[in-house]
Amino acid sequence: MTDGRHTLDIEPDDERGHMPDHLTAAGDLELADVSLNIAGRWVLERLTLAIRPGEVTALAGPSGSGKTTLLSIAGGILKPTTGFASYAGQHMWQGDGDPRHEVAFVLQVYGLVPILSARENVAIALRARGLRPDEADERADAELTRFHIGDLGDRQVEELSGGQMQRVACARAFAVAPEILLADEPTSELDEGNREHVMDQLRAEAARGAIVVVATHDPAVVDAADRKLVLDEGRLVSADESSYVTGR
Ligand SMILES: Nc1ncnc2c1ncn2[C@@H]1O[C@H](COP(=O)(O)OP(=O)(O)O)[C@@H](O)[C@H]1O
Ligand SMILES: [Mg+2]
Repeated sequence: MTDGRHTLDIEPDDERGHMPDHLTAAGDLELADVSLNIAGRWVLERLTLAIRPGEVTALAGPSGSGKTTLLSIAGGILKPTTGFASYAGQHMWQGDGDPRHEVAFVLQVYGLVPILSARENVAIALRARGLRPDEADERADAELTRFHIGDLGDRQVEELSGGQMQRVACARAFAVAPEILLADEPTSELDEGNREHVMDQLRAEAARGAIVVVATHDPAVVDAADRKLVLDEGRLVSADESSYVTGR
């Protein structure tokens, strides 16, 4: 981390060392006048908001409204055209599209390595954060069990169903106990029981002090969240007072 950048590889990062058991976010995740223009079209327009730790924030809105794009900018994997996202006084965008180490994503497209096992997919993320291989495997199994797929650890991800892959993606993100957890439609492939379970786990992450944002168009997930932001065509059309949107 000498150059201030983070790259997700499987080399242990001695500076970060071991996984904390308990972690509280160091402040709000803030967006300041964020806009994104793609090919002459404004995909996001002038978003200014702050997302607090300790609660689950739902990011709602129809398909194409900009939810994935907003999460990508908030997590530092996409550079906005104007404005910036920041956390604890630092820009989220670090110049290379890699997220900061405080961030873990549950991606809409899962982002798993298909030819590796479920366990290996989770363990890679843990080893990147400094865990020994045996510790990483043990914790990976515990996280898979947390999402009711403890029996699938040895299975190659490409053999799994969509719902099973989605839960591996959850296990991978939750395993690292991130300060900032950004989940993009994490329940889209799940039945009701598992959907509620994932929501409970998101709430548990918030309860330990993490910043938790869940992009969704599922009304049940929105209802279960503490705060709600609604996008429409790249604009923020509604937000709880407590999300303290500071205007334009
Ligand atoms: N890389 C890209 N190139 C062109 N258009 C994009 C790109 N990424 C997103 N968009 C467009 O931006 C809008 C918002 O997309 P997205 O953030 O994926 O919405 P949501 O997640 O709410 O469904 C859509 O109109 C989409 O087509
Ligand atoms: Mg999306």
